[in-house]
Amino acid sequence: MSAHEKPLIAIAGATSKQGRSVAATLLDSQRFRVRAFTRKKDSPEALRLEERGAEIVAVPLELGRQKDLVAAFKGADGAFLMTPPIAPPETIEAPLGRQLADAAVEAGVGHIVFSTLENVEKITSGTKYAPHFTDKALVADYIRGLPVSHSFVMLAFFYTNLLEYYVPRMEGDTLLLPVYLPEDFRAPFVDPLTATGPAVLEIFSNPERYNGKTLPIVGDIISPREMIETFQRVTGLKAAYRNAFTQDGLLRYFPEFAANELLVRELLGMVEYAVDCGYFGKEHDLDWSRRLNADTLNWEQYLKTTRWRGDKQSFGL
Ligand SMILES: NC(=O)c1ccc[n+]([C@@H]2O[C@H](COP(=O)([O-])OP(=O)(O)OC[C@H]3O[C@@H](n4cnc5c(N)ncnc54)[C@H](OP(=O)(O)O)[C@@H]3O)[C@@H](O)[C@H]2O)c1
Repeated sequence: MSAHEKPLIAIAGATSKQGRSVAATLLDSQRFRVRAFTRKKDSPEALRLEERGAEIVAVPLELGRQKDLVAAFKGADGAFLMTPPIAPPETIEAPLGRQLADAAVEAGVGHIVFSTLENVEKITSGTKYAPHFTDKALVADYIRGLPVSHSFVMLAFFYTNLLEYYVPRMEGDTLLLPVYLPEDFRAPFVDPLTATGPAVLEIFSNPERYNGKTLPIVGDIISPREMIETFQRVTGLKAAYRNAFTQDGLLRYFPEFAANELLVRELLGMVEYAVDCGYFGKEHDLDWSRRLNADTLNWEQYLKTTRWRGDKQSFGL
């Protein structure tokens, strides 16, 4: 098969943790070509994708870019769409997602995979505020109405949240891990950098099988207490849980959040929703991604593979 006979998948947010996992897995499979959308063609992540064989296209994920996006999607057989982190009071996530989907359809893309989450507004009858969930669900609803074959992935909480955002700190001889969940609440977690790609590869390899489906991507279902016990066992470090799931706890360990009242409301709303209702709706098969990919990392394997010992890390942004 010549390179040009391979289906082309366009990836919006290709340098994100999710996007780069998708790009790398599709390229490694040798079954797809990849077109990577980025704001900065010369960023280290974009250059790494180019080295791996992706075509790099400069197109920002922002409103008012419909024409550029249609041009960027032209010729693609499939599109992986994600929305970047958007903190309130910014409210562009739903229109941005709709714009991405509209542009993909206008360009004639054959199958869309959108990274969505649950509709917290609807599930909680408006009592919990988590627009970065609900807005993705609204985009998914919109895509369901478009004349295009489509699937959705729904990622669990990222392990990387503890490395990037809720970073541990030393107190005496103990590493304190302020976690945004109650100590004994078992929540679904995943490594977006290694788990997203295999799931999306499976979908683009069998678009008819997965048309209309929503597929959760999960690496482990584990409580903060169990995460910290595992962390101590794997690293040999002394570690302890600290509450960052109530307003007092969150602001005690991360006072910088206080500058954005709505963001605090959203973080607390998200956690209360997850604890009260479960992160994923009960209809989902939470084992799907782990059955599909035996290499999906649970928390212990994630710690062993990454050798993370509690330091702050960033993933390219
Ligand atoms: N954290 C979690 O537990 C979790 C769980 C499920 C879902 N999610 C969702 O996952 C999404 C984030 O995915 P991720 O963590 O994989 O992304 P990420 O690593 O934070 O990267 C975001 C990417 O978006 C691109 N981008 C384009 N316009 C942007 C803008 N205006 N601001 C920031 N980035 C922009 C950037 O690429 P360029 O710089 O190359 O343009 C960047 O690589 C969010 O929508 C979040 O709600 C998060």
